[in-house]
Amino acid sequence: MDKLVIHGPTKLKGEVTISGAKNAAVAILPAALLINGVCRIENLPNISDVKMYCKILQELGAKITWITENEIEIDTRDLSCTQAPLEMTSKFRASYYLLGVLLGRCGTAEVGLPGGCNLGARPIDQHIKAFEALGAKVDIAQGKITAKAKKLVGTSIYMDIVSVGATINAVLAAVLADGTTTIDNAAKEPHIVDLANFLNTMGADIRGAGTDVIKINGVKELRGNATYSVVPDQIEAGTFMLAAVASRGNILIKNCIPEHLDCITAKILEIGGTVEDYGDSIRVSMNKRPNKATVKTLPYPGFPTDLQPQMGVVLATADGTSTLHESIWESRFQYTFELNKMGAKITAQGKSAVFEGVKELTGSPVYATDLRAGAALIIAGTIANGETQLYNIEHIDRGYENIEEKFRNLGANIQRVTEQIEM
Ligand code: EPU
Repeated sequence: MDKLVIHGPTKLKGEVTISGAKNAAVAILPAALLINGVCRIENLPNISDVKMYCKILQELGAKITWITENEIEIDTRDLSCTQAPLEMTSKFRASYYLLGVLLGRCGTAEVGLPGGCNLGARPIDQHIKAFEALGAKVDIAQGKITAKAKKLVGTSIYMDIVSVGATINAVLAAVLADGTTTIDNAAKEPHIVDLANFLNTMGADIRGAGTDVIKINGVKELRGNATYSVVPDQIEAGTFMLAAVASRGNILIKNCIPEHLDCITAKILEIGGTVEDYGDSIRVSMNKRPNKATVKTLPYPGFPTDLQPQMGVVLATADGTSTLHESIWESRFQYTFELNKMGAKITAQGKSAVFEGVKELTGSPVYATDLRAGAALIIAGTIANGETQLYNIEHIDRGYENIEEKFRNLGANIQRVTEQIEM
């Protein structure tokens, strides 16, 4: 069992290079199964969710060649199977994209009910609604979802709520359907645009990704034979922006897309930080205690729920009392109990939390309750006085490439330690 041991406090200073986006990569990898050919994907983050997805694709008959640790070639000419291995798919959320993809390519799919971070109820009714609208029959029984269709036919789909996953699954299922599909009230996250760009590069005809109406003209086949580079990770970039602010440091964040980060930049300016935009990099600095703030998470282009815990660390030591409202996930405040062990004064109730800013945090043993909570606790350990031991870091490895090395390069005193469990 690995843990991270962090000694603080440290003002983080220096440069960090952002990896490819996890949530784009876990949509693009299954999307490659829609291609009847070979494609190359660059700038893949070297994280456990990507490695797991590659194993699943191999089980389904795709041939994968690793060119470097961030670049692969996938040959999807001979798919042998439409049943994704249940023990693998049930471990992470994005495995449900296999439903849209296998339905689209083979007309039948069987996937384990998806796992992933425990953020509260994670219904998939909008995914099912989209598949059914396209003509599929969907069943959920014995821990798995089965979808079948003689033929998928383009249609109009109105999403009752803005859902990243349901928008992606509807796009995936519609790419090879007969005729035109329109998705209204679609999610607009950068990874949805990236998925559409990938599919269009391989021969699809998708328009309007990044707006709330996406139109997909079905094509007969995706031939591939092209190379695509995954977009830089908006959430990883935001994590380091907030790490700079929380630690009162100065970080140049390279390989990012500043316009994806506008809402985070706006909050950082509001609480007294500085952000300089250099086109494909940004510098974030802070030289005082942050001002208090009110933050509400929203679908893109609002403040991302996936940066809410990292923002929580900033507000925990801000000057005054702040409020965070979570509007996407019902259980995203579990990290506040860990921060309180470190001396924070946070009261979380339902979808809101009140942060009575304290001057400093103190190191403590803490547990990563999910991926983003884990990233937030690394920041907390970096700014806290003394030693923090962070457990359950397998959550963090799912979504951040070389995270302790990146923090170490910014001056953090952070080590990965393997603990022997006595039997
Ligand atoms: N929802 C429904 N029905 C559905 C689908 C979603 O009611 O059929 C609800 C959810 O319960 C939630 C809201 O709609 O309240 C939004 O959920 P969404 O479908 O957008 O989330 P997701 O696709 O399951 C992705 C990211 C999450 C991120 C959310 C919101 C991936 C693999 N995951 O999840 O990322 O928090 O969008 O932006 O893309 C993370 O990276 O740490 C992470 C959890």
